[in-house]
Amino acid sequence: MKFAIIGNPVDHSLSPEMHDAGYRALGLNAVYHRIPVTISGIGQGVRYLLDNHYDGWNVTYPLKEAILPFLDQVSPDALHIGAVNTVKRVDGRLIGHNTDGEGFVQSLPAKGFELNGKIAVILGAGGAAKAIAVSLAQKGMQILILNRNKEKAQELAEQVCKLGGNAAWGCFGAGDWLHSVDLLIQTTPVGMKSERYPFQLKGINPSSLVVDIIYYPEKTRFLADAEENGCRTMNGLGMLLYQGILAWKFWLNVEAPVSVMHRALTEKIRSLDQGESENK
Ligand code: ATR
Repeated sequence: MKFAIIGNPVDHSLSPEMHDAGYRALGLNAVYHRIPVTISGIGQGVRYLLDNHYDGWNVTYPLKEAILPFLDQVSPDALHIGAVNTVKRVDGRLIGHNTDGEGFVQSLPAKGFELNGKIAVILGAGGAAKAIAVSLAQKGMQILILNRNKEKAQELAEQVCKLGGNAAWGCFGAGDWLHSVDLLIQTTPVGMKSERYPFQLKGINPSSLVVDIIYYPEKTRFLADAEENGCRTMNGLGMLLYQGILAWKFWLNVEAPVSVMHRALTEKIRSLDQGESENK
């Protein structure tokens, strides 16, 4: 079987290592390729995947919304989120799904976090924030969305409410919410280059779980700040892992080997770290 990740760029994606390790562990005759596809080349990209008999593919930046017109059907999750990260081909028809939000939700039990009725604060209102907000609202969490562009936070909160969730919005920054938050999720790109976070978590509820969806560097300054304030923390590797585990279920209807795929990801990250320090 043939799978792929499409987007631009895809050369740093860890998905091929994760999926290949899973195929090897279960002895599946399957491959997973990186295929760079730009927004303007998406039609051509989909044609290429079909002509070359790919059975399914992941969709990443900047194609998660642009892929929609090429699909014959989308799952309710993808419809609610308005974006697709996983596609499968069934009898020549293309079906889109979104495993990002549910992947995030499934990564939480590893930290002993239980969802119901608690308060989640989401920093950022982009694509990842949307998938997470919709999925957490479906699980009954109260959501507060804080974004630099406040209108975007409002738009997302209103969308979550339209779907039956409970969501409010506010300004991106520290505030009273720090005392009552149970689950704090950082979804902006701030920290990917080891830069300082624009505000501090002083006064945060120390029994909250703080998640940064960035997984490289493994510990952003934001997560270090959360740790210093006594919180449990988790980076974005769990979300990456479980969106992939759910893609297996969607593509193959098979339980993926979670620990093998997790190990492949952590080994890859470690090798990236080693490359970094050798280049210094
Ligand atoms: P993704 O799909 O990965 O979530 P995105 O859709 O480009 O990425 O969203 C990026 C989010 O990070 C946005 O909420 C953006 O805020 P704005 O809507 O105000 O642009 C946020 N973001 C990016 N850079 C930021 C920064 N330096 N400080 C605060 N927020 C930032």
